Amino acid sequence: MNSIIVGLQWGDEGKGKVVDLLSPSFRYVVRFQGGNNAGHTLVLGDQVIALHLVPSGILRKEVQCIIGNGVVLDPQVLVAELDKLEKMGVDTSLLRISSIAHIILPIHRSRDSSQEEKLGSQKIGTTKRGIGPTYEDKIGRRGMRVCDFIDPKIRQEKLRSFAQNSSEHSYEDLEAWSAPLAQKLASCACDTPALLHDAILAKEPILFEGAQGTFLDIDHGSYPYVTSSNTVSGAACAGAGVGPTHIQYVIGIAKAYLTRVGSGPFATELFDEVGETIQRVGGEFGATTGRPRRCGWLDLPQLKRSCMLNGVTHLCLTKLDVLSGLENIFVCIDHQEDPIYKKFSGWSEDITNIRNFEDLPQNCREYILFIEDFIKTPIKMVSVGPDRNANIFRGSFF
Ligand code: GDP
Ligand code: IMO
Ligand code: MG
Repeated sequence: MNSIIVGLQWGDEGKGKVVDLLSPSFRYVVRFQGGNNAGHTLVLGDQVIALHLVPSGILRKEVQCIIGNGVVLDPQVLVAELDKLEKMGVDTSLLRISSIAHIILPIHRSRDSSQEEKLGSQKIGTTKRGIGPTYEDKIGRRGMRVCDFIDPKIRQEKLRSFAQNSSEHSYEDLEAWSAPLAQKLASCACDTPALLHDAILAKEPILFEGAQGTFLDIDHGSYPYVTSSNTVSGAACAGAGVGPTHIQYVIGIAKAYLTRVGSGPFATELFDEVGETIQRVGGEFGATTGRPRRCGWLDLPQLKRSCMLNGVTHLCLTKLDVLSGLENIFVCIDHQEDPIYKKFSGWSEDITNIRNFEDLPQNCREYILFIEDFIKTPIKMVSVGPDRNANIFRGSFF
């Protein structure tokens, strides 16, 4: 039951929460694309943990977390995140990183910022974490992989060539930044595809953790307002080094409404008080950059397409509690010149403590069942609060 978890919208659907929740059923949790542009928030009682690079299975002792080859890795961010987790008492010693993942250097962060500045009003609204420029260098076959970075001779040679093309970063500065970080990475770098292959042979289940969302995908998203990696489920295979014949399930995560951070089209975006209410109640502010997230109504033709692009077998609908108290809820069912909406009556009850589908208010159940029928994909779980335990399962999950 190797499974992939992906976001079906524009990111921040609650992937981290679902990965943390489901990870006890797995032996490995693997990130396969993106980098620390991601922000995955886990809530355990009064403890709130935001992860950017470390997989969201890290809180589970019995799970081994892996950063796969498809990820772009900022070693400074990784070391800081691991330190923070260790200080909280989380054991991170089992974490392994792919020796062929690409490294984000300070040079990439600077390039990300200056490219955005040059675009002016046309800017993408990136997280400025150096994600795009690092993937550019990877595809351009001049990148720095983890195995290059931890080998002093190769690292220094590559850093010299990077510095030659930069007016901002000298070789000396880059090497002074890199050397101590390289030492720290060396102990956890390994051949992660081989490790996962052994796991498959031993029938130890693997969970692949996606970052961002389907409409931020470099191919399938609203180009050019996208991130620089493939975010769809298909990317898990290349980004972890596992063949598609070893994947059984694709778990898609969708919010009960829509949000987007950064620029780009958003047909159902709300510019009124309802949008502001959703933003406030849903705490829709980016975990990575703190930017307010744009909010709007759920777009069902878009969600249906997302299920198609990812081959979703299980859908998790999150943040349903945020809609409690709205008089009416709208959902987009078609796109003509403007979006065409179906109107639902809302519900006033607090649903955060409900754990059985049948106990949800009638109007709330109608909303869920309409979505399920429209997209023809089973909604296996409904999330009704940020806490790890605030969930309604519909039948057995797997
Ligand atoms: P990710 O990037 O997909 O992992 O999602 P984020 O963690 O960036 O954003 C989701 C936010 O919503 C986090 O702050 C979660 O704690 C929170 N969250 C997740 N599920 C629910 C839910 O069902 N209800 C509410 N109110 N908050 C949720
Ligand atoms: P998680 O994993 C929401 C958005 C940025 C910008 C675009 C490109 O938490 O869902 P980038 O820095 O990747 O070059 O920025 O992608 N973006 C995200 N939006 N959630 C994310 O991750 C995102 N990661 C990138 O806001 O619009
Ligand atoms: Mg997020």
